[in-house]
Order: sequence, then C-alpha cells, then structure tokens
Amino acid sequence: MIDRDIAMGLVRVTEIAALNSALWMGRGDKNSADQAAVDGMRKMFDNLNIDGIVVIGEGERDEAPMLFIGEEIGKRDQDDIQVDIAVDPLDGTNSVAKGLTNAISVVALAEKGCLLHAPDMYMNKIAVGPKCRGVVDINASVETNLRNISRALKKDIKEITVTMLDRDRHNDLIGEIRKIGCRIKLFRDGDVAAALATCFDETGVDVLMGIGGAPEGVISAAALKCLEGEFQGVLYPINDEEIQRCHEMGIKDINKVLKLEDLVKGDDVFFAATGVSDGELLKGVLYLENNRAVTHSVVMRSKTGTIRFIDATHNLYKKPKY
Ligand code: FBP
Repeated sequence: MIDRDIAMGLVRVTEIAALNSALWMGRGDKNSADQAAVDGMRKMFDNLNIDGIVVIGEGERDEAPMLFIGEEIGKRDQDDIQVDIAVDPLDGTNSVAKGLTNAISVVALAEKGCLLHAPDMYMNKIAVGPKCRGVVDINASVETNLRNISRALKKDIKEITVTMLDRDRHNDLIGEIRKIGCRIKLFRDGDVAAALATCFDETGVDVLMGIGGAPEGVISAAALKCLEGEFQGVLYPINDEEIQRCHEMGIKDINKVLKLEDLVKGDDVFFAATGVSDGELLKGVLYLENNRAVTHSVVMRSKTGTIRFIDATHNLYKKPKY
C-alpha cells in the first residue's frame, strides 16, 4: 500500500517546480521556465520514499535529460513501494512566458502499472465534475452531452459553461455550442487546470471539451478520479507517423474511448498541483517582502477522497536551492 504521507511529499514536488518556474513569468522564454520547473521537481523527487518510474514525462530519454519516460526516480530503497509517476512540471509554458493565466505544476502517482503510458500526441477529451458522472459520452453528439449536463446540474442550457483551448481546430465545435446556446470560456493554455476546474462549483466551469495533449489527458484523469468526476478521451493522431507510433505502443484500436479506468487503473491514486500563474482554482505564486513567496496547491487521494488545499509561505532564504 502507498504511504498516505506521500501526499505531502508530492505537494513539495509541485511547489518547488512552481516556485522555480514562476520567476520566469513574462520573460518570453518558455524553455527556461520549463527547465526551471523540471530541475526543481526532479531534485525534490529524490527525497521521496518511493521506487518510481516516470510514465508520463518530459519526453523520450534522447530528448529529455530529466524526468524522461522510463526514468527511475525517488529514493528507491529496498522497501520503497514501486509506483508509476506522471509529471507535467509546467503545464502552460507559454502562459508563463507571456505572463498569462492558468499555468500549474502537476504530478500524479499510482501503483506500478496503473497509469497509461499515453503517446505524445493529441487527444479529444470531455471532462465533467461528480454531478455529471455517467451522463456524458464522447461519442454522443455535442448537443446530447450538453443537454444531459444541463439536466444533471439543474441549470438552464444557457447557463452551462463549456471551456476549451482557444484553437482554430475548435472552430466547428465552438459554432455548434453557440447554436445550442451555452456559454463558452476559451483559454490559451493549460487543459489540466481546466479539467480540474469542472469539479469545483466556484470556478463556474461545467465541462471541458475539445482536443489537447494526450499526456495531459492521463494527468487530468488522475485528478478526476480523485474527485469522482468523469473523463473520457480518444487519441487524435494527426499523421501516419503518429498512427504508426500508436501501433508500436501496442494500441490496437486508436478510436477506442479511453475511460477513467483505462487511463488510471487501481483505487489508490494521488494527484498534486501548485499554481504558477493565477487560474480559476489555484492562484499563482505570490512574492512577498524579505524573500518570501506564497504558493497555493491542491493534493488529493482517490482511495480516501480527501482533497486538501495547501497555502504555504516559503522563506526563500532558508529553502535549499533546487
Ligand atoms: P505545454 O505547457 O507543454 O506547452 O502545454 C500546454 C498545453 O496548453 C496543454 O495544457 C494542452 O494539452 C496542450 O498544450 C495543447 O497543445 P497545443 O498547444 O498544440 O494546442
């Protein structure tokens, strides 16, 4: 069994990544913002009593020196439990580079073999909160899904808010939703934070739709499993090479609807996220006088359903430099 105290360790991991990358806000350098997050996260993982393997990470070994897919991380002592780890040290690299909203640092952890090793390509997604569990089907029409969501939430269809990435590829979807009469909230980057937002009333976001990254889909699914929401995804390869990659990874049916249980197996899943820039759920890193900084994080565990929001004030004089 995974030690429940790993939750606090995971928050430290996302906090340090957020603290490091937030310093790059607005400096127009997304690679440095990402690298800073990766460096901090990678080093902090060394303090955790786990025998972890990165299944969703910064890329393949030859393209990412740290947190690459297959990298073994954690203290990895003999008694440490073997776990799968999915990381996105900075989801929203462009947002940080431009000083925009919605960037988070995020980690999911589950027992070995439980997190889908998703190929690095697009995924068509639908995500809803707990009240809409069981009422959406990614293969149903957009109208059917939105009417079912409206019924489940006891809200008029005009009051339903659909969120999606602001991309040209969504123009038809946007047109369809406008005809149905729902509200639409577009965002520039960061669809993990958007998926998470569907599970909290105060965000005002009811459903995430559209195409984003598949690795981010697995991480979002881990969060929604903890929150008892629903997530469905279908891989969306854009060329023959990506179709070939799916086949090489043993994915026979590319059109298969990947449900929560396909993306994240088992009943003991942990998820942690820290805001880098302000978002609907988590505020970004705030700098105070005397070298102090405030972070806002959420950490949760599917087994117990506990959701903790953790606000931390860090004394950067005393913190080791990661
Ligand atoms: P990065 O931070 O890795 O750039 O990802 C940001 C993001 O917005 C994800 O949240 C999303 O899944 C993906 O990019 C969408 O990809 P694209 O920018 O190609 O539409």
